[in-house]
Amino acid sequence: MSPTKSFSVITLFILTRALSISANLFNIPTLLVPPSDTRPTTILSIGPDLARSKKYVHLTGASYCFNISTWDCIFCKISKNYGFEFVSEFRNKSANTYGFIAVNNYEKEIIVTIRGTLNMNNVLQDSDWVMVDPNDGRTVVKIGDGETIGVNRGFVRAVGSLFPQLVTQLNVAMRNHHNYASQSRPCASLHHSLHVKRTDQSSPRFSCPEILRLFRIRGPRVGNRVYADYWNSQNMPITRVSNKADFAAYLPPSIHGYVHFGSEVWINSKEEEIICSKEVYEDPTCTNSMPVLLHNLADHLIYWDMEYLACAGQHMETTLGQFVTDL
Ligand SMILES: *[C@@H]1O[C@H](CO)[C@@H](O)[C@H](O)[C@H]1NC(C)=O
Ligand SMILES: *[C@@H]1O[C@H](CO)[C@@H](O)[C@H](O)[C@H]1NC(C)=O
Repeated sequence: MSPTKSFSVITLFILTRALSISANLFNIPTLLVPPSDTRPTTILSIGPDLARSKKYVHLTGASYCFNISTWDCIFCKISKNYGFEFVSEFRNKSANTYGFIAVNNYEKEIIVTIRGTLNMNNVLQDSDWVMVDPNDGRTVVKIGDGETIGVNRGFVRAVGSLFPQLVTQLNVAMRNHHNYASQSRPCASLHHSLHVKRTDQSSPRFSCPEILRLFRIRGPRVGNRVYADYWNSQNMPITRVSNKADFAAYLPPSIHGYVHFGSEVWINSKEEEIICSKEVYEDPTCTNSMPVLLHNLADHLIYWDMEYLACAGQHMETTLGQFVTDL
């Protein structure tokens, strides 16, 4: 391992922490209680779906392995035991983004898994807290704008870099599994750590997938309240899982107008799974109960029995190759 390469990994860590800490310095009391949006709302979306989360978590883990298409990585094998088979993968080398499609033939479901942050490029994208209108990806949305939908610009770009391939490959997967039921629905934004289950009977071709169940495991905040309200009003299961004081759950900071959506499950320090309130945007007794000074990277890297860097640890050179990107 050359000094340059290990430096990059350390930078990755410091960069992420520094940003979260400096953002929090705006408000000294937040050193104790993380700032979050605890205003009342009604989260109509069904969930959380804990049982499925515990299966799908291994698919999210597989996305951090290598040569996934051979479907014999450690988490690929666990997924295989649950009945998941690899179908196809999509990547954008310049954007350093990756995702894959799997099917479960017992459940008759098609699942799209999009990898979260792994490398420097992704981190830099994720560190850009600017919100834009997801419809054009450009118009900047101001903090506190109560009307306009706003989504993190980095997420819009990351998903946009994969979207054409994703739609093409999902189309193929659906054609090859045409007996898996489905309906059409407007194209909502697909994003970070998103899983799509599609079932279709009607349309032989589609431009955008219908999302039947959405799982966000260890995900950051994505957009503003208008965006959260959209998902919270959907009549579909939306599950958000966060572990202990995983720093990612507190980013982008709520003082920048970001808020979580969906139904939260919080794994607390006793490994108990807490089903959180659906009457506030973010439950102050769940992830947000952890003092800011405890927010950490370690809780981001292990969810239940899933060690996200297990593959990376075995293949350090390959991993470092992904961390080191031209800036
Ligand atoms: C992935 O597959 C390629 C080609 O078969 C091989 O050279 C490489 O070592 C594999 N990488 C890992 C991390 O298994
Ligand atoms: C990859 O992403 C870039 C933007 O980051 C985009 O311009 C390009 O078209 C994408 N490539 C493919 C094949 O989708």
